[in-house]
Amino acid sequence: MGREFIGLFEEWAESYDDSVLGKDPQYAAVFLHYDKILDEVAKYSTGNVLEFGIGTGNLTKKLVGKGHQVAGVEPSEAMRKIAVSKIPELPVYEGDFLTFPNMDNSIDTIVSTYAFHHLTDEEKDEAIAKFFKVLTKRGKVVFADTMFESSIAKENIIEEANKKGFADLIEDLNREYYSSIGTMQELFEKNQFHVTFKKMNEFVWLVIAEK
Ligand SMILES: C[S@@+](CC[C@H](N)C(=O)[O-])C[C@H]1O[C@@H](n2cnc3c(N)ncnc32)[C@H](O)[C@@H]1O
Repeated sequence: MGREFIGLFEEWAESYDDSVLGKDPQYAAVFLHYDKILDEVAKYSTGNVLEFGIGTGNLTKKLVGKGHQVAGVEPSEAMRKIAVSKIPELPVYEGDFLTFPNMDNSIDTIVSTYAFHHLTDEEKDEAIAKFFKVLTKRGKVVFADTMFESSIAKENIIEEANKKGFADLIEDLNREYYSSIGTMQELFEKNQFHVTFKKMNEFVWLVIAEK
């Protein structure tokens, strides 16, 4: 579930890899240090990896390159096609954060970049509870995604975007479910994870949640 934004990704898939290179000025700050952010997620990944919202497979490629067994879950067909064209051997499933093949107790690391904000906080709670079941005894979740330190921090960013005339970015920030760090911490701790956060750019935070 949380699939209400899939239409956007069906359209965006073809030009997505240009966006992550900073070619769209409205999203340049969101994707600042993109490659380094993916490297950081890969660095903390161990063992068998389950990746959600693989998009065009950029993180997936790094994980496979490091020798991990990776399974990908992605709801957008257009995104899946591009990812598989880059990594033909990848097992990739049509699914989402809440609906995916049964992998109880077999996954060491669950990863995702720039995707968890498609779930409401209630759906995030449900997903995190599922992650706990899927992960091995000492498993972890390693995410990078846009989130904000406070509602004031979010308002300030929207005000800055407004000054720059970034209408698409403002619409996106108001439309999707960007959580506060406090809410993310609460949700992971409620589901028995120990969680830490690290700021990667003005928008994106690295989240490491260990069982
Ligand atoms: C901004 S892209 C990020 C792609 C890739 N992870 C990256 O870092 O470049 C967001 C991806 O999340 C996927 N997505 C959207 N809703 C989702 C959901 N409910 N569950 C899993 N993935 C979702 C989209 O189809 C898209 O591929």
